[in-house]
Amino acid sequence: MNRLVSLLFVLPAGVLAQEPPVAEGLAAWSRIYEVASHPRCTNCHVGDSGRPAWAALGYDPKWLHGMNVQAGDSRIGAETVLCQTCHITAASDNATPHAAPQIDDAWRLPPVALDWRDKTSGEICIQMRNPETNNGFEGQELAAHVRESAFVNWGFEPGGNRVPAPGTAEELARDIEVWIAAGTPCTADP
Ligand code: HEC
Ligand code: HEC
Repeated sequence: MNRLVSLLFVLPAGVLAQEPPVAEGLAAWSRIYEVASHPRCTNCHVGDSGRPAWAALGYDPKWLHGMNVQAGDSRIGAETVLCQTCHITAASDNATPHAAPQIDDAWRLPPVALDWRDKTSGEICIQMRNPETNNGFEGQELAAHVRESAFVNWGFEPGGNRVPAPGTAEELARDIEVWIAAGTPCTADP
């Protein structure tokens, strides 16, 4: 027994700390996709149309943002009406149904490269592992950023009787950690 204990001491840490297998990474990815494809995320994660959506708010599922709101190249509505005119930058419990959501960050659309609307699991997976299409994050930085994002945290606790994204921001960040540690596998990979 003593010999076994001392043997464990001399083994390099990497031999014991096995990389999570690809299957575990793919299972984590499928949970990440359930979140990323949820309307609380895809209503903002739209492409160069610059039109945020109002899916899963009780209107037609394909309903775009009312009042013809356009985010423009600025992604904050600088060319027309600023998002901040209605989405005030201040933390709120967003208790009133159908009021404009408010968070402690300037409400805006993500860069066009983070367009996830109507995309497949394989497509979003390939986008999310590439720093050119994940807002510049390498390795585990992505998980750290997701944990802190006011946008992501709002999606899990949106208030106002809105359907939240499944799980919690912490669970999402842990799934991202597992997926990255497993080498960011995607179902579309050969
Ligand atoms: C109000 C619009 C909005 C909503 C809603 C939103 N996002 Fe984002 N998201 C952004 C913006 C803007 C960025 C670019 C990063 C930034 O500027 O903070 C971003 C970036 C990201 C990134 C890239 C890493 C990063 O943090 O920059 C991920 C991953 C992400 N969002 C996930 C989500 C998920 C998951 C949800 C739903 C639970 C969600 N987002 C909901 C606006 C939004
Ligand atoms: C004139 C006021 C107004 C302006 C300007 C405005 N919004 Fe909104 N927005 C609202 C209201 C009100 C809601 C809530 C609609 C509902 O719940 O029925 C909303 C909801 C949203 C949603 C849906 C959130 C969810 O629950 O999934 C997104 C996304 C959004 N806005 C993005 C934007 C962006 C991006 C801009 C700037 C380009 C913007 N909005 C500008 C009033 C506004």
